[in-house]
Amino acid sequence: MSFPQVRMRRLRRTQSLRDVMCQVKLDPHNLVYPIFVDENAETPVPIESMPEISRFPLRQMVDEVRRVMEQDVKAVILFGIPSKKDENGSSAFAVDGVVQKAIRKLKAEFGDELVVMADVCLCEYTVHGHCGVLKDGKIVNDLTLENLQKVAVSQAQAGADVVAPSAMMDGQVRSIRSALDYAGFTDVAIMAYSAKYASSLYSPFRNATECAPKFGTRKSYQMGYGTPEEALREIELDVSEGADIVMVKPALAYLDIVHLAKSKFKVPIAAYNVSGEYSMVKAAAQMGWIDEKTVALELLTGIKRAGADLIITYFAKEVKKWLS
Ligand code: PBG
Ligand code: ZN
Repeated sequence: MSFPQVRMRRLRRTQSLRDVMCQVKLDPHNLVYPIFVDENAETPVPIESMPEISRFPLRQMVDEVRRVMEQDVKAVILFGIPSKKDENGSSAFAVDGVVQKAIRKLKAEFGDELVVMADVCLCEYTVHGHCGVLKDGKIVNDLTLENLQKVAVSQAQAGADVVAPSAMMDGQVRSIRSALDYAGFTDVAIMAYSAKYASSLYSPFRNATECAPKFGTRKSYQMGYGTPEEALREIELDVSEGADIVMVKPALAYLDIVHLAKSKFKVPIAAYNVSGEYSMVKAAAQMGWIDEKTVALELLTGIKRAGADLIITYFAKEVKKWLS
């Protein structure tokens, strides 16, 4: 049968019919809010390239998380801006490092009501801004793994529920899983940034965290966007190395990868709606060219429809209000 017996518009007639038929609906419970914790700041420092996002000193960070939780968001992912950097990024695994302090504070305040995730990387903590340890100007994979293990274990000791390695070093998930298990943290989960692209959409974030590489690019470790099968291989490897959640990042230009990953692997998929994706919407909305709320809801629903179980997004705090 086809037209005129079939009329697709019958089920679009009223808002209640459209609501009844809706298959994919955003839920703030599946969102993760990124937070920047700044060891140098006394008061919140607004990030110019990311309207309405700030770097927080520890105390105000807790208030920000409380506001986020009131919006039904149950998870945050922490990024640190340390007071000192060095060649090997050792402040990333200091017992009293900025993220370790933030984790302790959040756990003391919110306990199991909040899922605390922590980014495991070195770029915010190294003087050169690369995600790994350098030798003769090159990033050395296996040396970097030792530091990533220390970062993850120190975050677990502080009370992190989930550690999220984002350095794109080979073997990072296996190394971190075994270090966590050896240290007794068998219940700390790993969310792997498995398919992380060398993207130009990270620049507002790099500006916010002062982690841009001082020379060269991240292309020798992050993926190029012309090789989709490589992404599936990365994800497959991370699953076999013990990742509990795998991530595709950025989200919007890589929805095909999200979809393929979801159909191929029976693991939870996260998608990171990155800083540049956020700032483009904010900027166009400020110009009056688009409507922030409806555009953001459309984009986030698209990410979910592609197959993302979790969405990491700077919009997380607004979604509950927008949906009601
Ligand atoms: C660090 C890291 C980056 C992001 C998350 N973790 C930047 C990068 O790889 O250069 C980007 C997040 C965003 O743009 O919102 N490895
Ligand atoms: Zn990094």
